[in-house]
Amino acid sequence: MVKHLHFASRSRPFLKWAGGKTQLLAQFSKRLPLELNNGEITHYVEPFVGGGAVFFYLNERYHFSHCAIFDINEELILSYRVIKKSIKKLIDALESLESEYLLRDDENRKLFYYDVRDKFNRKKPNLNHKKYNTAWIERAAQTIFLNHTCYNGLFRVNMKGEFNVPFGRYKNPQIFNKDNLNDVAKVLKKTTIVQGDFAESKKFVDHKTFVYIDPPYRPLNTTSSFTSYSRNGFSEEDQCRLADFFKDLDKTGAKIMLSNSDPRNENPDDSFFDELYSDFTIEHVPATRSINCNSLRRGKINELIITNYR
Ligand SMILES: C[S@@+](CC[C@H](N)C(=O)[O-])C[C@H]1O[C@@H](n2cnc3c(N)ncnc32)[C@H](O)[C@@H]1O
Repeated sequence: MVKHLHFASRSRPFLKWAGGKTQLLAQFSKRLPLELNNGEITHYVEPFVGGGAVFFYLNERYHFSHCAIFDINEELILSYRVIKKSIKKLIDALESLESEYLLRDDENRKLFYYDVRDKFNRKKPNLNHKKYNTAWIERAAQTIFLNHTCYNGLFRVNMKGEFNVPFGRYKNPQIFNKDNLNDVAKVLKKTTIVQGDFAESKKFVDHKTFVYIDPPYRPLNTTSSFTSYSRNGFSEEDQCRLADFFKDLDKTGAKIMLSNSDPRNENPDDSFFDELYSDFTIEHVPATRSINCNSLRRGKINELIITNYR
């Protein structure tokens, strides 16, 4: 039974996210396990979901009876959970932010942006990020608003956990896409959404599962340290812990795909990942890196795709 291309959903990422994988989807789609086509894979797990480019792409093409997504970033996961649970109220809150914003001229848009950013940061210490509550709706709306009006569409926090990205001067920013948010909500109905460490996702994995793993990059060199998506960076020890996790999942019979930066871009002798994943298939594929702290270094580089199948 071929389940390919049945267009279960047309959802797309609702946030711009560092390390978003939209530009690599064509490379991934050539390397998906055959079992996705014949219906043997019915579950999907993504331990580092970020903006969810791969999660949404696969849900458009394949039918999964259940998905589980994880991320350490509490604001990101809060937004996913609000979309799942309170989509109508979230859209109302976004419509009111959007109309207030678009009514203003450039200078007043800037003031409005910093006002929303201040409210967002002041609320943080008093917000319960663990248990769903109605304050989450306003917060998710603010997260989406700030993400689409801030400089470069980044989500970045400082050491105190405050969102600190400056205002971005856009001519006609789209704050949100209502149809897309409704489509996202549909996919999330059959999705378990967890804020936590990737290792917790293991309990959702069995031989009918496809797992896509996209950890924070290992810095390409000492000056490129764009790995602090949250206050807890992802160290080389974490990369090793992740390789052990990959091996554990492999034993369940799940099909697994992992992507990471290719250290050979910088140093042809760097065999860090070749050693960690020597039992698996490792491919070096061309990619365009969109976020790099040094803009001169944006451009063509290779990405690693590692699978436990051929
Ligand atoms: C490369 S990004 C994923 C990007 C995603 N594939 C996309 O298309 O947007 C890595 C993600 O891992 C998350 N992260 C960092 N450490 C983590 C951990 N220990 N467990 C789970 N998620 C973690 C970050 O918050 C970030 O969202």
